[in-house]
Amino acid sequence: MSRLLITGASGYLGQRVAYFAQQTTIWDKVYSQTWRNPPTAGEHVACDLADQAQLEALLEQIQPTAIIHTAAVTPAMGPAMTDQALWAVNVQASATLARWAAQHQVRLVHVSSDAVWGGREAAYTESDVPAPIHPYGASKAAGEAVVAALDPQAAIARTSLLYGQNPLDPNTTMALAMLRGERHGVLFTDELRCPVFVEDVAQALIELAQKPSLYGIFHLVGPQILSRFELGQALLAWNGIDSTGLPAGTTTASGLRRPSRVVVDNRTTQSQLSTILRSIDDVTRR
Ligand SMILES: NC(=O)c1ccc[n+]([C@@H]2O[C@H](COP(=O)([O-])OP(=O)(O)OC[C@H]3O[C@@H](n4cnc5c(N)ncnc54)[C@H](OP(=O)(O)O)[C@@H]3O)[C@@H](O)[C@H]2O)c1
Repeated sequence: MSRLLITGASGYLGQRVAYFAQQTTIWDKVYSQTWRNPPTAGEHVACDLADQAQLEALLEQIQPTAIIHTAAVTPAMGPAMTDQALWAVNVQASATLARWAAQHQVRLVHVSSDAVWGGREAAYTESDVPAPIHPYGASKAAGEAVVAALDPQAAIARTSLLYGQNPLDPNTTMALAMLRGERHGVLFTDELRCPVFVEDVAQALIELAQKPSLYGIFHLVGPQILSRFELGQALLAWNGIDSTGLPAGTTTASGLRRPSRVVVDNRTTQSQLSTILRSIDDVTRR
């Protein structure tokens, strides 16, 4: 009997992975692990990933035959994103999953982030070595390193700013709040990323989970480069909202130290997948 374990199934990405995984007949059973919030699809299994013994007990109990590891401590957690939580979940739990997967010859797809880089003019390829500049990025880079070391057969999938309508993504929600004056701040015109439709990433992760011949690093990002401000404009337009008055600014003026230009090349990954990682123009033109 085939059993898929999705970690972080209540998260923005994990919800969509669980939804699509349940639509397929690939796995006999889909287990959705969460911590504080319930999942919207799959059979719920609760586990605090910061507790290694709890995680090991969960793995022994459900004996997954494949794992898609989306759970992470992310900036969405605000002040709860402590160094200790970053280490316990993004590094230690990833190591536990990778060790278990390698020992049991179970397929592991580990989700990582473009936050492993600090920004530069040239695009980053799958073979570029991580060089993070903040604690979250450092924890994701360390997570990648332990997974690659403990389970060299794992797929490590880096993604970028995720967007979608069902449910509405955090970037649109933030732009909307700024536009309505409910939230202070600006959207940066000098912070560039390769945003990607959450449903394309979810489908690509499911594809990777089925293809153990694909291992190492993969770039699940969109092919279009947008600033945070341009992304805000595009997402508001997609949702039928006039973005006139959306506040713009620069990271330079803000004085914040953030990765500026993180352009991620997805061409090698795209050539290996049948799931198309679409541009925002293609997605929003539907
Ligand atoms: N969102 C983006 O734009 C983006 C960009 C690049 C990379 N990524 C990567 O994509 C993945 C998913 O991100 P996301 O934005 O979907 O995350 P998210 O919405 O912040 O959700 C995080 C998930 O991790 C779970 N989690 C956190 N701490 C946990 C703990 N101690 N024990 C068990 N579960 C825990 C949460 O469970 P509860 O809800 O139950 O607390 C939730 O399901 C992450 O690996 C992230 O690094 C995301």
